[in-house]
Amino acid sequence: MTTGSSDTKNGGKQEGRFQELLIRQSGFNPDLPLARAKTIPNHWYWDEEIYELEKAKIFANSWQWIAREEELPKPGSFLTTERAGEPILLIADENRMLRAFYNICRHRAAPLLSSACGEVNKLRCRYHGWTYDLRGALRGVPEFDGVEDFCRESSGLVEIPLDRWGNWCWIHQGQATSTLKDYLSPLPEWSLPRNWDNLRFCKRVAYDLNCNWKVYVDNYLDGGYHVNTVHPGLAGVINYSEYNTTIYSHTSLQSSPLKSSTSQKDGDRDNAGDDVDNKAVQQTRIGDLAAYWWIYPNFMINWYQGVLDTNLVLPLGPEKCRVVFDFYFDRSGLASTEDFQNQSIQVAEQIQDEDIQICHEVQRNLHSRHYSTGRFSVRREIAGYHFHQLLGRALLNQE
Ligand code: FES
Ligand SMILES: [Fe+2]
Repeated sequence: MTTGSSDTKNGGKQEGRFQELLIRQSGFNPDLPLARAKTIPNHWYWDEEIYELEKAKIFANSWQWIAREEELPKPGSFLTTERAGEPILLIADENRMLRAFYNICRHRAAPLLSSACGEVNKLRCRYHGWTYDLRGALRGVPEFDGVEDFCRESSGLVEIPLDRWGNWCWIHQGQATSTLKDYLSPLPEWSLPRNWDNLRFCKRVAYDLNCNWKVYVDNYLDGGYHVNTVHPGLAGVINYSEYNTTIYSHTSLQSSPLKSSTSQKDGDRDNAGDDVDNKAVQQTRIGDLAAYWWIYPNFMINWYQGVLDTNLVLPLGPEKCRVVFDFYFDRSGLASTEDFQNQSIQVAEQIQDEDIQICHEVQRNLHSRHYSTGRFSVRREIAGYHFHQLLGRALLNQE
């Protein structure tokens, strides 16, 4: 195998010119205090060139969640996917060590594997039959005698750095400036006393949205600002006045105490008219705390006692994204029962439907000539501005 390079195809010069233009035109200043800050400009939510720049500067230059380790149980187990517009191949080698490669044959760029997942004992390109072992080293090169200056050793698959946190595997296509653990900090420490080891993967649900990926992330990071207005069911269990947001280097935590079941029954709710929704939410959002972790740029972890779901936001184009929900539940106790799990997933789907609707409406209006940027609520939206700061600094080369 060969070590990866962070060079982009577009060429540095062209990218540099575009970035200069971006800086002059955007007016976005990531260094203002929150009280004076403005959002990124509206064209960043649909511009094709911004979308391409984001692939290189953001998605190819951050830790990206890629898979659960348990998805690759044996030597030769593999899965294929895409990140930052690049085809990725994740495979367990002979020692079951997980490795990530670009899924690109070094001969004429054919994909090594085409199916979404499976098991192989070597990687054989179906185009002209070059073979690679499970560590990416080039082994078989048919009919290549007489080729000069060809180094088999340096013609292996291009490997991508991979790191794990528990069962979760992440890749980094650029130059990682921090280990995965530091990047996620302080989430790993925070999760320790909360028994995440006891969670078991249950189900994946994916949603395709007609909005830029950042619209979805903005919606997630508004500090509960839209809970009462968009999510009447959730509003019944969240103690909105105590909703709190803390930002860290590459992560943020939004958390809220849950209303006790007694106060919910006493009618201490913001939206008492939504009894049916509220009942399902109350029965599945149990415990004392709701915690919503965001990891720059596109991964979220939502946790209630015994219940966790992750949201991976994958850009599919300037105005399209896919949000992949993975649901996990405790192996024991109430959350391990099928009824609880079905009801809990239904609640998440209801909340997601409400979010999707507003995200679509926002995306349409971002094209208006009568909206360019917005302001942030100091009380609520520090995490949203944190996201724009990280994003802006990455795009404007000010990291
Ligand atoms: S492209 Fe793979 S062997 Fe030719
Ligand atoms: Fe929401």
